[in-house]
Amino acid sequence: MDEMEQMRAQALAAINAAVTLDALEAERVAALGKQGWISALLKTLGAMSPEKRQEEGPKIQGLRQEVADAIAARKGALEAAALEAQLASQTIDLTLPAPEAPQGSVHPIGQVMDELAEIFADLGFSVATGPEIEDDWHNFTALNMPESHPARAMHDTFYFPDTRLHNAAQQRSMLLRTHTSPVQIRAMLARGAPLRVIAPGRVYRSDSDATHTPMFHQIEGLVIDKGIHLGHLKWTLETFLKAFFEREDIVLRLRPSYFPFTEPSVEVDVGYSLVNGKRVIGGADGWMEVLGSGMVNRKVIAAGGLDPDEWQGFAFGTGVDRLAMLKYGMDDLRAFFDGDARWLAHYGFSAFDQPTLSGGVGAVA
Ligand code: PHE
Repeated sequence: MDEMEQMRAQALAAINAAVTLDALEAERVAALGKQGWISALLKTLGAMSPEKRQEEGPKIQGLRQEVADAIAARKGALEAAALEAQLASQTIDLTLPAPEAPQGSVHPIGQVMDELAEIFADLGFSVATGPEIEDDWHNFTALNMPESHPARAMHDTFYFPDTRLHNAAQQRSMLLRTHTSPVQIRAMLARGAPLRVIAPGRVYRSDSDATHTPMFHQIEGLVIDKGIHLGHLKWTLETFLKAFFEREDIVLRLRPSYFPFTEPSVEVDVGYSLVNGKRVIGGADGWMEVLGSGMVNRKVIAAGGLDPDEWQGFAFGTGVDRLAMLKYGMDDLRAFFDGDARWLAHYGFSAFDQPTLSGGVGAVA
């Protein structure tokens, strides 16, 4: 009994003297661990007579509890002290400048697409999308280019050879869309009329030089409503180009043209002026072709599931990359897709510079 009392006093003293959590843990193991002395005492209970056990049991259990409580209390005190010390040693200086970090930038194409979405949203257009892997029907047939149509040859299409073999009968051969015009069909079928959508996105043609890349970007516009005529088309394009180039002196020239999916079709030139030998959009020193457009062909309206006697519309399509080059003064299209960090640092836009109509859609590069 005396021995137990002595052990108890020793253990409690050691526990309260422990200055680290490791030292405390060592005391816990020595007393309460599998081989610990209190655990050994508990084991002696089994061999005792019932009377003796009744007498010794509560003492040993009480001792175990007392030591466990002492360890928990000391642990709490040590942890609190450790936290205090940590808080005292760590400081944070909120006046320091933010650390140097690699900064990304918004690619001019993304920037221009955002600008276009913002401009057209103001005119009541929503954004429509379609797949880049498109089927023959949406890309050609529904746009009034049946299998034998000569205009198909102008597109240098990337076909998927397997699907063409398997699905030729259903005209479901698959390809990389050659323009965003198939989204006209998808939007009409999905949303019906009236309709005002733009469809920006990637398109593909097997073509490559300084002004052509196999993948490039277009934006499509489609309006379907009642009593729509060429005047609506011209006003819309003029309003859009003035907002995009942020100039009032935008002059448009509409030239008769041909697209299978519009009738009549017009190619739209925008006037430029020469400033120090460089072409700047605005004025009328010369003309640059910027858009294909026209009144939606009746057959296309029918392919979109609408009655062409009831609904009319206009459509336009243009190259986003080209618009970016004209607005922000880059001259090699291929640089858009090189992923050169220096080019991006120079021509990219800050992610904090979101185009908004209130803030002005043209960001400062
Ligand atoms: N899809 C045509 C092209 O890729 C552009 C266009 C779109 C023309 C809509 C008229 C109407 O060249």
